[in-house]
Amino acid sequence: MEILIRTNAASVATAAADIISDYAGRGATLGLATGSTPVAMYKELITRYQRGELSFSQCQAFLLDEYIGLPRGHEQSYFATIRREFTHHVDIDDARVYSPDGTAENPDEAGAAYDEAIAAAGGIDIQVLGVGTDGHIGFNEPGSSLSSGTRMKTLHASTISDNARFFDSTSAVPVHVLTQGLGTISRAGHLMLLATGSNKAEAVAALAEGPLSAICPASILQLHPHATVIVDEAAAEQLRHADYYRFTEANKPSWQGH
Ligand code: GLP
Repeated sequence: MEILIRTNAASVATAAADIISDYAGRGATLGLATGSTPVAMYKELITRYQRGELSFSQCQAFLLDEYIGLPRGHEQSYFATIRREFTHHVDIDDARVYSPDGTAENPDEAGAAYDEAIAAAGGIDIQVLGVGTDGHIGFNEPGSSLSSGTRMKTLHASTISDNARFFDSTSAVPVHVLTQGLGTISRAGHLMLLATGSNKAEAVAALAEGPLSAICPASILQLHPHATVIVDEAAAEQLRHADYYRFTEANKPSWQGH
């Protein structure tokens, strides 16, 4: 796992956009995440696209997760959110931006179909991830099977409370979701997790330096051969080996890529 520590959220976004730009240039299959953390990276990518520096025309994208029960037209559905925040502002083909179907009658069948669609597309080259304050990635809450496929999950009270800011009230937050599983996420070629702010410091320390455990679903990054964690100083403040990670980056050989 490579841990990159940046001074602030803006420089986290720039570092992440640099990596995604490389993949976009190769026509990669992108794994996209919602949540507030990657929004600044999406803005930076949109700016680069508008300047003519990169194109997503050869890319396709798979979203991490979706609320169950929200129609796709609902402004808080992740289907609508990723379009509003990113894909509608660049040249990716809208028909090739896929997300789990939170309106399906049988969520488990929809989940299995989603995993099949990812496999049929040749797999995800790079998966963008945020992290919940409870250590969840996608919507894989504590206790999630480390090898799970895309399936229904029930949100933790802490996630419902964290996400209530996007809805009129806490009771309006859907309780059930469809999320890529930890097994699904693990099959992506490269995992890139972003975290900013001191409220993420505990989760970042747990995922990077704590035990590999279902209690911290993000700790599956420890098993992945190509994982990059990009954090700001505030989110890095509980890392015991922060100085080592800085030293490693300062001494990174020029032949090593992202
Ligand atoms: C949501 C999303 C996750 C996201 C997490 C953190 O629950 N399903 O993909 O990583 O929240 O969100 P934020 O970046 O807003 O803190």
